[in-house]
Amino acid sequence: MARVWDIPIRVFHWLLAILIPFSWWAAKSDHLPWHRLSGYTILGLLAFRLIWGVVGSPTARFSSFLRGPRGVAAYLRGEVPARVGHTPLGVWSIAAMLTVLAAQVGLGLFSVDEDSLEAGSLSKFVSFDTGRALAHLHHRLFWVLAVLVALHLAAIAVYAVRGRNLIRPMLTGLAEDSNSPAPPMAAPWLIAPVALAAVGVAWFVAHGLKF
Ligand code: HEM
Ligand code: HEM
Repeated sequence: MARVWDIPIRVFHWLLAILIPFSWWAAKSDHLPWHRLSGYTILGLLAFRLIWGVVGSPTARFSSFLRGPRGVAAYLRGEVPARVGHTPLGVWSIAAMLTVLAAQVGLGLFSVDEDSLEAGSLSKFVSFDTGRALAHLHHRLFWVLAVLVALHLAAIAVYAVRGRNLIRPMLTGLAEDSNSPAPPMAAPWLIAPVALAAVGVAWFVAHGLKF
């Protein structure tokens, strides 16, 4: 058993898996204050993941897993030896999900509802009409995100049918990958400053670019 996912990656992942459906539910059932709170929390999680992708454990670092189209093609042809961490194809689905999610949060920040009662914290910087237009995009982009999440779940199901359980490692951090050496993990003390920076970013944005 080798540890492949550190605690921050797992906490990040399962919080996202809870907060995205929650955000959708809160918006649909007119609990906009909950919707915004959930959105600002997702913003903090994204900020955390971005920094952790640079300074975190090797399996969390973008530099260790982002590969170009040739890397993905080689993987699909079976030419890339199995190694711990994300697969070259999976990485692009992750990158797509995180990019669309960031855009969704970005649009939400500038969105206003019809009667101008509910609004994202940065909507004061745009006109009402622009805020409404961005809210429409915010509604539409949600479905793009939903499709990407559905593909993510389908890919995991395909691996499961083929006898590879990816879910357990995302829960326990451990993978039964005896061929590959265990990757080193980031020092736990790093979590605190990165989390503090992420909370700072989310707080600053949620308060309309003020502390
Ligand atoms: C809204 C729901 C979800 C979102 C947005 C999401 C997003 C992500 C992201 C961004 C990663 C990459 C982790 C990282 O390096 O930061 C990931 C990995 C993963 N997710 Fe999800 N996820 C969701 C739901 C789920 C669910 C419900 C399951 C399990 C049934 C799941 C299982 C996994 C697994 C197993 C991996 C690791 C894949 C690998 O080994 O490369 N996800 N997910
Ligand atoms: C800081 C982040 C966010 C803010 C400030 C925000 C803000 C808003 C606002 C003000 C509305 C109402 C717009 C209107 O009535 O036309 C709205 C609607 C909506 N938001 Fe967000 N949002 C954020 C993040 C998200 C995220 C992450 C998701 C994805 C799960 C999401 C999904 C939706 C959906 C689906 C609606 C439309 C609900 C409906 O059809 O009535 N939002 N959001």
